[in-house]
Amino acid sequence: MIVTRDPKEFFVDDADGEAPEGAIDVALRVNGQTFDLTIDPRTTLLDVLRETIGLSGTKKGCDHGQCGACTVHVNGRRINACLTLAAMHEGDEIMTIEGLGTPGDLHPMQQAFFEYDGYQCGYCTPGQIMSAVALLGEPCGPADADVKELMSGNICRCGAYPNIVAAIQSVRQQG
Ligand code: FES
Ligand code: FES
Repeated sequence: MIVTRDPKEFFVDDADGEAPEGAIDVALRVNGQTFDLTIDPRTTLLDVLRETIGLSGTKKGCDHGQCGACTVHVNGRRINACLTLAAMHEGDEIMTIEGLGTPGDLHPMQQAFFEYDGYQCGYCTPGQIMSAVALLGEPCGPADADVKELMSGNICRCGAYPNIVAAIQSVRQQG
C-alpha cells in the first residue's frame, strides 16, 4: 500500500478496518487537550492541526517556513508548524490561536489587533498574533524597529504592518 502525505487518508478505514501501513500512534497536547491520533509519521504539525484535529485557525501560506502564517507555540516558544513533524511533539504543550482566547474573552493581543486594525484580509493574523504574544516574553528593544525586526518572519500581503506594530506596542506598554 502507498502511504500518502494527507493525514485524512488515515481516517479512511481499509476494507479490513485496519490503519494503513506505516501509520503511527501519537498523543498530542493541544490547547490543554490530549488528542490520540494515528498519523503518517511524515505529516507536519500544521497539517495535523488543521486537517486531522480540525483547528483551522492556524493558516497555511507558503508551507516552506517563509511566511509565518502557521506560527504556533510549543512549550511557550513560537515555531513554524509547517517546518516540524507532528510526531516529534508528543509530550509538548502546543497552543494555537484557538487556545489563546475566545470571542467573549480575547487575549489582550487579540483585543489590540482589533482596536488598532492590525489586519485587512485576516489570513496572516493568527500567525501574527501568536508571534506577537511570544515576542512579549523575548528580549526585544523598546522601539518600533525592534518589534519589526522580531516580527520579520511574519509576512502580511495586505501590508498592515504599521497597525500590527502599533497593536503590539500598545500591549507592551500595558506592561
Ligand atoms: Fe509555515 Fe508559511 S506556512 S511559514
Ligand atoms: Fe491580509 Fe495580513 S491581513 S495578509
